[in-house]
Amino acid sequence: MSEKKNTPLNVLVLHGPNLNLLGTREPEIYGSDTLESINAALKKQGKVLDITVEAFQSNHEGELVEKIQSSISVQDGLIINPAAYTHTSVAIRDALLMLDIPVIEIHLSNIYKRESFRHRSMMADVVTGQISGLGVSGYTLALTALAELIRP
Ligand code: DQA
Repeated sequence: MSEKKNTPLNVLVLHGPNLNLLGTREPEIYGSDTLESINAALKKQGKVLDITVEAFQSNHEGELVEKIQSSISVQDGLIINPAAYTHTSVAIRDALLMLDIPVIEIHLSNIYKRESFRHRSMMADVVTGQISGLGVSGYTLALTALAELIRP
């Protein structure tokens, strides 16, 4: 039996640059839900799954790196939408490599159907799994998947 089977879990949800403007930012691509409503849905789902969900958004690469570092030995799982840093950030990739918890990379849009520079993810080969193109439901699917990965 998993050592985490009946214990409360901690999951960090990281949102990268420009995701603070969800709802008004290119709604034809990213939808009309706000970041606040996504975080609220995850926290509500967390209560059902006995998971404390902490959400953090930053437009700054270093702040995201520091938040990943501070999750070592604290968080049981990570959901991350690195946004534009997906395609550029060796620093975030390297920070993820220091974690030994399941990590799910998420994108609201299907990055493989968009401009070619979005087809490459610096994170894809160091995360547990990736969800791309399912809109906001991708986040709740990611939390469900994490619960199952951590408490099999
Ligand atoms: C995104 C896709 C990225 O290419 C883009 O830079 C974003 C959001 C998504 O959720 O679809 O900011 O990560």
